[in-house]
Amino acid sequence: MKKIIIIDGGPRKNFNTSALLQKVAEGAGTVEGVEVETHRLYELDYKGCMSCMACKVKGRASQVCKFKDALTPVLESIAEADSLVLGSPIYFGEVTAQMRAFLERLAFPWLSYNDYSLLAPKRMPVLLVETMNGLPERNNSQGYGAMEHCIAQALGAPERLTAYNTYQVKDYSRYELAGFSEEAKRRYRDTHWEADLQAAYDAGLRMAREINNSH
Ligand SMILES: Cc1cc2nc3c(=O)[nH]c(=O)nc-3n(C[C@H](O)[C@H](O)[C@H](O)COP(=O)(O)O)c2cc1C
Repeated sequence: MKKIIIIDGGPRKNFNTSALLQKVAEGAGTVEGVEVETHRLYELDYKGCMSCMACKVKGRASQVCKFKDALTPVLESIAEADSLVLGSPIYFGEVTAQMRAFLERLAFPWLSYNDYSLLAPKRMPVLLVETMNGLPERNNSQGYGAMEHCIAQALGAPERLTAYNTYQVKDYSRYELAGFSEEAKRRYRDTHWEADLQAAYDAGLRMAREINNSH
């Protein structure tokens, strides 16, 4: 059985980010021999890198974080997985704090301070999902930022899936959100959201087929 791990770095269940990730899982789940495991970071009690340096101890260096908390089984699972999907809303131009903290724990053990190489236990296909208020032609997103370089080096060049101009609340009339035109949001959603969901489904399907065909 091949395994795809999905990491949901958004706080809201059943909103934009998690809806896209669920579609990725749905697409991947149609391929026989592939299982999907989803972890919601906001449901786990963990910290970012503690700088304990346990992953760099001579003779016992590890490419998987040695600090023990609720993230430990997730990181161990990723080390043995066949592909990885990360999803996050964009907060103040970057991924969420939970996603960032997760990425510190994932990537610091990959980094060698001997030669500055970035080596994961296993290379694998990666999909980076982001959702935001911004538009394709005007947004402030730096996406996964510096962490994307680490991911590309250690796991392989990631595929990217972005949903723009998302609905932030179900009913704009109930909130102080006058800077947004619900009418314009609705028009954008009506013409893009189904395609975003389809692209997520297709990406999951493609990823599952790819890992199923590799040895
Ligand atoms: C704290 C916070 C900060 C945000 N910052 C940005 C931002 O800098 N740029 C942007 O385009 N959208 C920003 N947004 C909007 C979210 O990225 C967008 O609504 C996203 O699709 C929410 O994902 P969700 O529906 O899965 O929660 C922000 C939302 C919140 C709550």
